[in-house]
Amino acid sequence: MNNPVLTIDGPSGAGKGTVSRVIANQKGWHYLDSGSIYRSLAIAVLDQSVNLESKAEIVQLAKNMTLEFSGVEVLAVKLNGIDITARLATETTGSIASQIAVIPEVRAVLLQKQRDFRQAPGLVADGRDMGTVVFSEANYKVFLTASAEKRALRRYKQLIEKGFNANLGQITQEIESRDLRDSQRATAPLAQAEGALYVDSTDKTVEQVIAEILSFML
Ligand code: DC
Repeated sequence: MNNPVLTIDGPSGAGKGTVSRVIANQKGWHYLDSGSIYRSLAIAVLDQSVNLESKAEIVQLAKNMTLEFSGVEVLAVKLNGIDITARLATETTGSIASQIAVIPEVRAVLLQKQRDFRQAPGLVADGRDMGTVVFSEANYKVFLTASAEKRALRRYKQLIEKGFNANLGQITQEIESRDLRDSQRATAPLAQAEGALYVDSTDKTVEQVIAEILSFML
């Protein structure tokens, strides 16, 4: 339980994933992409054709789902034994994930699954409520953000690189509505944790952001 934790929270497309992976790699620490847990549940909801209003059914799916993670550079995820890696990144998955993430009972069920990642020699945890709720006792906390335009552009490039069709205008809209929902929900909204280092990556390179975080951790 005393293993060190670095939390990196922020809105989508701020660069949390890239930065977290590099730091986890450099330090030899574990990496938790908490969004992928919400995204996996979103895929379960889609596959079982569960109505987004059926909270009890969604909570049950969250309780019953088994997740296996592998890889660091490219995260591979198996949901109930089936590889869902290729479906994780889409904006549809992200949007459903954001909608089910407002359900307090869903967040409660997923809490332990996330805390289980805190293992020796340390953990880098990326998400929305890592520093405020899941690892509120974390040793180092960062809030990483960037302008909505820059974040949409980054998300667009990521999707194109992964071979998806993408439309920049549509992504901008989707990111803005997801940000709004994630930061205005009643339970564990996206917020800067007390004592967190605030980093705006709009005009910074990945290397600059990493250097800033690493010097904060000294
Ligand atoms: O980081 P991401 O884009 O993969 O996350 C997808 C959605 O999951 C995000 O819009 C809201 C939800 N989420 C959350 O509520 N809490 C987290 N710690 C991580 C993600």
